[in-house]
Amino acid sequence: MDTVEPLFPIPLMRCPQVLPADLVEAAVATIRSAEVEQNLRSDQLFHTAIANPLALPLFQQIAALTQPKLADFGQLIFGEILQWSVKEMWINLLERGGGQALHAHANSFVSGVIYLTPSHPSCRTVFVRPPGGSDFSFRHHTREMAMGPYNAGKYVLPEVLPGDMVLFPSYLYHEVPRNQGDQRITLAFNAIPDRLDCWGYQIRFTP
Ligand SMILES: [Fe+2]
Repeated sequence: MDTVEPLFPIPLMRCPQVLPADLVEAAVATIRSAEVEQNLRSDQLFHTAIANPLALPLFQQIAALTQPKLADFGQLIFGEILQWSVKEMWINLLERGGGQALHAHANSFVSGVIYLTPSHPSCRTVFVRPPGGSDFSFRHHTREMAMGPYNAGKYVLPEVLPGDMVLFPSYLYHEVPRNQGDQRITLAFNAIPDRLDCWGYQIRFTP
């Protein structure tokens, strides 16, 4: 029998309902009552004056809920259960008309987004195939073709509900198209393992 091996794929983990409804409500209430500041690149994207949400017990509680998922996701990447911690967390308030430019996260191994409000279909998070490398420089994109993981240039996250989370390797570029719906609130974070070991040569990280 013929087989196809999915060589060197990039994992992305979708974790439905990581946050219970009461925690989502409490986070939204805290965020809506905080002062906001404008994003440098989009005039309809704002961040709250809560510069470090992890300083608040509510967000520490949220970070703790990501821990087992980070351990599972980290095992996919590094092959072992490591001690993971969320080293930074921030809040995105995306108003109607706002978007987020294509970017990746530096100084981090795993990044995540927790959705706190419904997202209008126009502003689902889009993940982009890493550019360059040894791919063909030709494309075949037609209405008849079957789009799949071997030829797609982008992956659009399917519908998410408040309390859902997505985890991805921090090097994976992503963007949010212009929001044509109501305000969308997300929590984003970066996480690191306590150490990496390559045949006895270790590097340690502290948040
Ligand atoms: Fe991001």
